[in-house]
Order: sequence, then C-alpha cells, then structure tokens
Amino acid sequence: MEVRLEQVSKQYGSKQVFASLNEVFESGKITGLVGDNGAGKSTLLRLIAGLDLDYSGHIYYDGKRLSKPLYQQMTMVFQTPYLLKRSVYDNIAYPLQIRHRSAAEIRQKTEAMIARLGIEKLADQYAHKLSGGESQKVALARALIFEPDLVLLDEPMSGIDAASVRFMEEMIQEYVREYHKTVIMITHNARQAQELCDRIVHLHGAAGGK
Ligand SMILES: Nc1ncnc2c1ncn2[C@@H]1O[C@H](COP(=O)(O)OP(=O)(O)OP(=O)(O)O)[C@@H](O)[C@H]1O
Ligand SMILES: [Mg+2]
Repeated sequence: MEVRLEQVSKQYGSKQVFASLNEVFESGKITGLVGDNGAGKSTLLRLIAGLDLDYSGHIYYDGKRLSKPLYQQMTMVFQTPYLLKRSVYDNIAYPLQIRHRSAAEIRQKTEAMIARLGIEKLADQYAHKLSGGESQKVALARALIFEPDLVLLDEPMSGIDAASVRFMEEMIQEYVREYHKTVIMITHNARQAQELCDRIVHLHGAAGGK
C-alpha cells in the first residue's frame, strides 16, 4: 500500500508539531523515520494509522482516502507494546480471530509464528507478564500475522538484545520482500536505519514551533 502525504500539518493546541509535509511511502519498501525526540515521529505515525484525525492536509492510501476496509489492512506497533491480558498464543492469534479466519488457519499460522520466534515456552504464559523485549517480539508477531498492507512500527526494537534485534530485522525484511508490503519504521539506531531501511525520511519538527 502506497501512502502519500500532501501538505500534512499537525498542531496540538497552539503548538505546531510539523507543517506542510509532502511525502510518498512506497509499497515494497521499508522507510525509516528519523528525527530528534519530540520531532513528531510518533505523532505522524498515529496520523497515518488513522488514530488521530485532527490534522490538516491529506493522506492517501493507494490514492484513496482512509476507509474501514483500508483501516483493517494496516497495523501499528507502539513504543510501549499494548498486549491483551491473555496468553501469548491468544495475543498472536487475535488479529486472525477478529478477521474471522478459519480455526485451522488460525492454529496453523499462530503455531508457525510462535515456532519462528522460538517462543514456544512462552506460548501459554500471560502476555502482560512478559519482559519488555519479549513483549515487543510478541507485538511484532501479532502485527505481521494477518499480512497487513501497511505496517507502522514505533521504535519496535528499543531495549532489545542484539541477537533479537537482528532476528526482528530479518523478520521485517523478509515480510516486505515476500509480500511486497509497506513498512514505515521509527528508529534512533543509525546502523539500523542504514542497513535495514530502503529510504530514510528525516523529521525536523516545525521550524519556529512554539
Ligand atoms: N497528546 C499530545 N498533546 C500535546 N502535545 C503532544 C501530544 N503528544 C505529543 N505532543 C508533543 O508533540 C511533539 C511531538 O511528539 P512525538 O511523540 O510525536 O515525538 P517523537 O518524534 O515521537 O519523539 P520521541 O523520539 O521522543 O519518541 C512533542 O513536543 C510532544 O510534547
Ligand atoms: Mg515517539
């Protein structure tokens, strides 16, 4: 799914976060979103995700305005993962359940994802009792399992050990290559931005913002 921003501006009250952004996020590409703390990266991702409709300008998804069917084709992983107070297994299966996939498909895909992540031992554990890094892995698994067209990742790998970072990077890369989907990812990691992302967008915040 291609995402196009036209003259997108955002204010919180009288505070301008960014102004007149024009940008295209292409299908089949991982775009890194970088910028200082407070530059507005999370805010922009929330606008693209349709979670905050209070902005000016236009956002087009494959040339179309946001609609419920499009909304269901996108996913966002937050800076602090939000997991349901259910088992790890149920959390990963959840996006398939709400999309009414068959029981057989849900079981097969969920088990495959758990095996891929190597978290079989955690499958029956309550997700809200996981460590921070484990939660982030589960959140990424839950995001990718239903094969969304647009994946929005807000620093999904902060505080993750090096081996797990490589693993998650591979997962994201394979996902984009295999399915030709769109990933927009906020990162503060220069190595990651350079190696993983096909393109980098710098957000500078609003010049003269109050
Ligand atoms: N709900 C809100 N109400 C008012 N101001 C807000 C709100 N959310 C964010 N801001 C402000 O908007 C600016 C951009 O915040 P945002 O969270 O988008 O930054 P960020 O680039 O994601 O930063 P970080 O790298 O620290 O995560 C900040 O100055 C922040 O204080
Ligand atoms: Mg942020």
